[in-house]
Amino acid sequence: MLLTSQTKWSALLLAIVVSPLCLALPLDDDRKALIMKEKMLQIGGELSLTAQEELANKKLMTLKNEEIKQAMKKGQFPPSMHFFRAKKLIEESKVFHVLKKMPKGAALHLHDFGILSVDWLVKNVTYRPHCHICFTPLSNLKFIFADRAPPTPKPEDCSEWILLSKYRGELQNVTEFDNSLLQNFTLVLDNPETAYSDQAVIWARFENIFGSIEGLVHYAPVFREYFARGLEEFYEDNVQYLELRATLYPVYELNGQTHDKEWSLKTYQEVAQKFAKDHPDFTGARIIYSDHRMKDVSHIAESVQTAMKLRVKFPESMAGFDLVGQEDKGYPLWALKEALLLPATQGFDLPYFFHAGETDWQGTSIDENVLDALVLNTTRIGHGFALGRHPVAKNISWNRDIPIEVCPISNQVLQLVSDLRNHPAASLMSSGHPMVVSSDDPSIFGAKGLSYDFYEAFVGIGGMKADLRTLKQLAMNSIKYSSLSVDKKKATKEVWQKKWDKFVDDLARGTKL
Ligand SMILES: *[C@@H]1O[C@H](CO)[C@@H](O)[C@H](O)[C@H]1NC(C)=O
Ligand SMILES: *[C@@H]1O[C@H](CO)[C@@H](O)[C@H](O)[C@H]1NC(C)=O
Ligand SMILES: *[C@@H]1O[C@H](CO)[C@@H](O)[C@H](O)[C@H]1NC(C)=O
Ligand SMILES: *[C@@H]1O[C@H](CO)[C@@H](O)[C@H](O)[C@H]1NC(C)=O
Ligand SMILES: *[C@@H]1O[C@H](CO)[C@@H](O)[C@H](O)[C@H]1NC(C)=O
Ligand SMILES: [Zn+2]
Repeated sequence: MLLTSQTKWSALLLAIVVSPLCLALPLDDDRKALIMKEKMLQIGGELSLTAQEELANKKLMTLKNEEIKQAMKKGQFPPSMHFFRAKKLIEESKVFHVLKKMPKGAALHLHDFGILSVDWLVKNVTYRPHCHICFTPLSNLKFIFADRAPPTPKPEDCSEWILLSKYRGELQNVTEFDNSLLQNFTLVLDNPETAYSDQAVIWARFENIFGSIEGLVHYAPVFREYFARGLEEFYEDNVQYLELRATLYPVYELNGQTHDKEWSLKTYQEVAQKFAKDHPDFTGARIIYSDHRMKDVSHIAESVQTAMKLRVKFPESMAGFDLVGQEDKGYPLWALKEALLLPATQGFDLPYFFHAGETDWQGTSIDENVLDALVLNTTRIGHGFALGRHPVAKNISWNRDIPIEVCPISNQVLQLVSDLRNHPAASLMSSGHPMVVSSDDPSIFGAKGLSYDFYEAFVGIGGMKADLRTLKQLAMNSIKYSSLSVDKKKATKEVWQKKWDKFVDDLARGTKL
């Protein structure tokens, strides 16, 4: 009988598969070597753990595997769900509770008025004397504190200021009103996918929230206290140091007098220093002065000059410069190059911390911001969501050790990605790309501190293989890539190491979980 070539191949294949000795073993080894190689490449993969860390890791991975197995069974995996719905499930997770206890180092990507849960604004600040409210035609709210008649509102905003204590006094149900204020101050609602039909809609609401709380948080006594309480909230979440993008818009007093940027920066410095003095295991905070990317090149040139002056005057607290606002709607960095090149042409060192590549629109000039940011010598890349699509930029970021700041919940809520298993940082995590995890504006997203974003990064983006090494590397990265001086980094790292050892000990022994 003639064998067709196909049956010949089948026979040959069968012989290979069933041959137990000569081929199966080397293949097994090859496969093991591949798996090991990938394991070493992932973020933290090269760290060797102490015996105690190995024990802690086992405990942690048992919890993690169990939770993921359960999620597969139920078809309900928090990182693949919208955070507004996932939040409750995350709070039930044992892994999340470990992450809350974990000393996470620094939070390097945060914005001035997104760091403190909004309850205090409603329950304390709006109840203070002299607080006025006005209702805009598009049912946005504005606030102002004033001891005499407040200045006439901008006509495009609203027609009149109403004393809030008087307004509350006439309400049938104050609780209901206060709940509506809470809702005004975050993006959280039950049906985010339908309520926010696209990125433009949610960004408009996002910026409106800042427009609403502005009159509260720019009031001098509140400004100071907001920041102090924000530091407290992160400290309680086991964060040791913050870097804050701040716009330094004018802060005002009850009589209408306003303060300039220097005043605001000085106040940030004083509050952070006092907090660090009262909490010796806390390093403090530094400010990245940030202007809006919708402003044209001449305005940005002025801001860059201001940034240089502030850096000379406040070397301790002033870390550098950035541009904020919806990237897709603003100027590309390259369109602002004349302003952004000013420091270099004057031989002045103004570190940049550009938001870049926070977009889904591949190939646009906004998408190229990741390249521009690198050409402009950025120190870190805010989000860098688009970095994976730019192989050369990715290489430069890798070779120059310029990290991306990954903010998972922000990216999901602002609709860049819905299932966080598909976040582009997944491939960067698995190749050990320099990165830190941060939370952007946790209070606006209904999150708090840094732990929720660590959960999403660890469980969702990192997947099944991310372990204690991953977490340790991310925490160490946050100190390494901060703008702190060499000495301060060293001191912060030492404090962190003590906290870490204690955390590992507790985890290994299964106490306090
Ligand atoms: C707000 O909190 C402060 C303490 O930080 C307290 O002294 C003040 O009485 C509170 N104000 C209101 C109106 O609750
Ligand atoms: C006031 O509103 C709250 C929240 O909507 C509700 O729980 C409460 O029953 C209301 N109270 C009265 C007296 O209607
Ligand atoms: C904001 O508060 C106003 C006044 O209570 C309310 O009418 C409006 O529905 C609230 N907006 C949101 C988005 O919750
Ligand atoms: C970036 O750094 C390079 C090398 O240090 C320098 O030549 C260049 O002028 C810098 N460019 C800017 C925009 O700072
Ligand atoms: C990136 O760098 C690696 C070496 O580190 C090199 O092999 C590769 O060709 C580079 N890729 C690009 C697109 O530049
Ligand atoms: Zn941001």
